[in-house]
Amino acid sequence: MTSRNAKLKLGIIGCGAIGSRIARSVMKELKGAFEVVALYDIDQAKVGALAKRLNVRGGAARDVDDLIRRSDIVIEAVNTQATLDIVRAALTAGKSVMAMSIGRLLSDSSLFDLARRSKGQLILPSGAVAGLDAIKAAALLGITSITLTTRKPPAGFSDNPYIREKGIHLKDIARDAVLFDGEVKDAVRLFPQNINVAATVALAAGPGVKLRVRIIASPEVIRNTHEVVLEGEFGRITTKTENTVCPDNPKTSYLAVLSGIRALQGMATNIKIGT
Ligand SMILES: NC(=O)c1ccc[n+]([C@@H]2O[C@H](COP(=O)([O-])OP(=O)(O)OC[C@H]3O[C@@H](n4cnc5c(N)ncnc54)[C@H](O)[C@@H]3O)[C@@H](O)[C@H]2O)c1
Repeated sequence: MTSRNAKLKLGIIGCGAIGSRIARSVMKELKGAFEVVALYDIDQAKVGALAKRLNVRGGAARDVDDLIRRSDIVIEAVNTQATLDIVRAALTAGKSVMAMSIGRLLSDSSLFDLARRSKGQLILPSGAVAGLDAIKAAALLGITSITLTTRKPPAGFSDNPYIREKGIHLKDIARDAVLFDGEVKDAVRLFPQNINVAATVALAAGPGVKLRVRIIASPEVIRNTHEVVLEGEFGRITTKTENTVCPDNPKTSYLAVLSGIRALQGMATNIKIGT
């Protein structure tokens, strides 16, 4: 995808925890292969601060279209509904787009059709969960069952409207309490904070596979923990990811930031390990 000599031009939409950490990493460790040429955020102050920190002159894009025009690869790291529009616009312009808000993509399968037709690629980093490489490999032979169990400290669900509606008192939870056990599409609707990992696992398993999602409030855990168990003719796989949070945003796992950086690093090398 990259020519050996030319640097790929990156445009970053969303200069929050993930966008700004990826940008900083690009300017340090990945500067041989990429350059950040454009930044956009609805919060202009964030763009200004990041452009100054990175020393990117003229980096502030006028709008999303301006950013897409200037970039080879668009990085989507926004925390709103805008994800779908951003991904669609980038792919329509024939540009590659790396989307971090993977959960939002589940609601619109037409984007995947568009990605198949586009000159650009749709790149979805592994995010806050381990083992997607093995899930994709196992899917070639067939997955007969797959379950994602997410455990968070009870306080991690405090801003969830479904929990409030159900009258669940998070402070009273003294041992593991199952808040949800069902299909991924309902998990995504009722627990938008868990949407990215569930969606990423579902996409890795493929369209014909039913992902069961269990969401547990656990006083036992201090880290957001995702366990995936899958079975099929290939055998049985169990993965467990225990995430520390990103210092800039307690809702975001640090591993998600790192996975975005790693996805870019993978594009810049001819050696692909464990992809
Ligand atoms: N794939 C994963 O496993 C994973 C893990 C964690 C977070 N995420 C997702 O990544 C996204 C970014 O996370 P974050 O921690 O950087 O969030 P953040 O809140 O720190 O930053 C988001 C930024 O987007 C900006 N923004 C909002 N709407 C915008 C718009 N329409 N146009 C431009 N900018 C806009 C905000 O002003 C903010 O600066 C979120 O959607 C989050 O759910 C994915």
